[in-house]
Amino acid sequence: MQRPDWAPDNVDIERPSVARMYDYYLGGSHNFAVDREAAQAVISVVPDAPLMAQANRAFLRRAVQFLVDAGIRQFLDIGSGIPTVGNLHEIAQRAAPESRVVYVDSDPVAVAHSREILAGNDQTVVIQEDFRRPEQILSHPELRKLLDFAEPVAVLVVAVLHFVPEEDDPDAALRTIRGALAPGSFLVLSQASDDGRSETEQTEARRVYRRTDSPLTPRSRTRLTELFDGFDLVEPGVVWVPQWRPDSPDGLDDAERAVFLGGVGRLGA
Ligand SMILES: C[S@@+](CC[C@H](N)C(=O)[O-])C[C@H]1O[C@@H](n2cnc3c(N)ncnc32)[C@H](O)[C@@H]1O
Repeated sequence: MQRPDWAPDNVDIERPSVARMYDYYLGGSHNFAVDREAAQAVISVVPDAPLMAQANRAFLRRAVQFLVDAGIRQFLDIGSGIPTVGNLHEIAQRAAPESRVVYVDSDPVAVAHSREILAGNDQTVVIQEDFRRPEQILSHPELRKLLDFAEPVAVLVVAVLHFVPEEDDPDAALRTIRGALAPGSFLVLSQASDDGRSETEQTEARRVYRRTDSPLTPRSRTRLTELFDGFDLVEPGVVWVPQWRPDSPDGLDDAERAVFLGGVGRLGA
């Protein structure tokens, strides 16, 4: 297939990427044939996949609004993805124009497209880094220029942890991040769960994601709750994402169809 002009030279356009598959679920245009094919293979066994992506984005939007209302003006969004409608900086800076946002993603397309849409916004930067290297993220000069860690920061790791296997020790990465934060900071996590999914769906979804460089690691509610270690969960705790402070009661009866669990924790004194 031909390389589109927006695709950086170092991107393998023959291998699906989880960032571009997610863009496809959300109806975006920054994906290749190989991503669409892989996403369609997931949809054929988990028809709710696009709904999952939308429910997760809606959770992100409500969580950011909650954080702005709680007085947060600094955001570190790790695994921020390919920008689409309703990005974190748009929500936060609309509600509180002084908000500063650092986006981090390991995917070159996500980073290149974020840079493009952020040109001219001097309160938002994007850096290419990996969640599993938190020291490199926290010491990055671009991040240090924008965020003041003496003040509360909200860290978001939303729809990312299922791409971090247990052997890569997500607890340790989150501990390092927590260690850098001032009291009153927040942590927002969401991730795919295998609670209530059939064996076939799980096996098939895992099989497709093995074709990417980010195989799937779904986690239970108990395990996701453990990853908030050191933070106090705000109400309603770790729940199916549509149940987290919903705008309306619609769609709450079958909230587990969203597959993603999520929550928000606050760092006490
Ligand atoms: C499903 S998307 C979620 C995007 C956004 N957070 C959202 O919720 O809409 C997952 C993103 O995490 C990124 N990602 C996966 N593993 C990562 C890692 N170890 N470090 C940084 N980014 C990662 C992918 O490149 C992708 O852009």
